[in-house]
Amino acid sequence: MLGLKLLTDPRWANIAESNLEEILTDHAWCEQKAATNAITLIANNSEHMDLVEELTAIAIEEMQHFQMVVEVIKQRGYTLGRERKDDYVGRLVKFSRRDGSRNNAFIDRLLFAAMIEARSCERFRVLSLNIKDQELAKFYHDLMISEAGHYTTFLNFARKYTIDVDVDKRWKEWLEFEGELIQSFGNKEAIHG
Ligand SMILES: [Fe+2]
Ligand SMILES: [Fe+2]
Repeated sequence: MLGLKLLTDPRWANIAESNLEEILTDHAWCEQKAATNAITLIANNSEHMDLVEELTAIAIEEMQHFQMVVEVIKQRGYTLGRERKDDYVGRLVKFSRRDGSRNNAFIDRLLFAAMIEARSCERFRVLSLNIKDQELAKFYHDLMISEAGHYTTFLNFARKYTIDVDVDKRWKEWLEFEGELIQSFGNKEAIHG
């Protein structure tokens, strides 16, 4: 799925469902961070008008997702907790190329975003197929489709705007790294936990 090297054990969905307040809080902040990431990409690469337009749409959509998750939290009588630390994303940040040319860093930032979209999409799929709560299963199914679209957008912009990065080669490195990394996850009630 989306080139991912390792699929999530469906039992992770049971861990997630055992603490909905926690997974929903973590999820809400994932959406906020996705919006923030899109805004940063816009601010740093404003010369590309098509990117500005499409990432503005994504930033808005991610905040709509945030709003939807917060609404679910409210409906169920839960409280939105504080932002959770995302160790998985922290490891991806460390893997990103931030040295080298401006274009190198830009392309890797797009691939970083594509990577998180791909895994989030896969995790939403696992939730939609395995949780018993049918209302939430539908919710995660719809979000899965949206995040798959974002994944494609980020990867396409990397291919379009590369100067000298071999995007297919670098994307393979991302997938290899992430496939190793995710082996030590899948045991916590967090979207990337
Ligand atoms: Fe989202
Ligand atoms: Fe997304």
